[in-house]
Amino acid sequence: MKRDDRLTQDMSKVEVKGIEAKYYDILMNILTLGKYPSFIRKALRQTALKEGERVLDMGCGSGRNALLIREMIGESGSYTGLDIGREMIDGFRKRCGGFDNMEILDMHIDSTLAFEEEFDAVLVSFVLHGFVQEKRDTIIENAYRALKKGGVFNIVDYSNFVVDDAPLPVRFAIRKMECPLAEDFIRRDTKEMLSAFGFDSFEEYFHFGGYVRVLRAHKGE
Ligand SMILES: C[S@@+](CC[C@H](N)C(=O)[O-])C[C@H]1O[C@@H](n2cnc3c(N)ncnc32)[C@H](O)[C@@H]1O
Repeated sequence: MKRDDRLTQDMSKVEVKGIEAKYYDILMNILTLGKYPSFIRKALRQTALKEGERVLDMGCGSGRNALLIREMIGESGSYTGLDIGREMIDGFRKRCGGFDNMEILDMHIDSTLAFEEEFDAVLVSFVLHGFVQEKRDTIIENAYRALKKGGVFNIVDYSNFVVDDAPLPVRFAIRKMECPLAEDFIRRDTKEMLSAFGFDSFEEYFHFGGYVRVLRAHKGE
């Protein structure tokens, strides 16, 4: 699918800031009528992270997901989160600062990163939809390069569907609460995006009526 020149990065809401960032986790709980904690726990279980794995989480947020991931990778694994949001970084440090195997780095995930075949798994959760396609491609390329051979890229985000055909509450959420980039992401074929960079063997798990998906993509051996 071609670039849509009407879409620009400054339309994005992915850089969560201020009060919204400070209370991001509570806000997600409210917007999902209390379903978010059990959803994210289940979704992260579906990434099938294992004890001892090295995980990179791009646009990691406030540390809520990081703590759930820590339950899976244990003391012997390690977690590196990347984020640029001041409130998110502060929240992460409060929650995870006491663990030696967890770190957060203030880095832009949409610029070329220096990680090369270092991680067993990469995660990007509710982040990819908030970028223009060119930047999504950079993020996917960063993930591919950062993964060891045989590693897995886990995307937790909207699935691909026709927004016009979705029920009113879904259309309202996408068109009135999200930025226009989200609908652009939903219209595209995420697997095709990933295949272009060498990912294959997809697995997917659907949530919230099929409108949200955990998509796992593999980097070949
Ligand atoms: C919608 S939140 C999702 C947070 C977390 N992944 C989750 O699932 O709860 C998007 C996150 O991406 C971060 N972010 C936005 N643009 C970024 C960029 N260019 N580089 C790194 N992080 C970014 C924001 O600060 C925020 O923490």
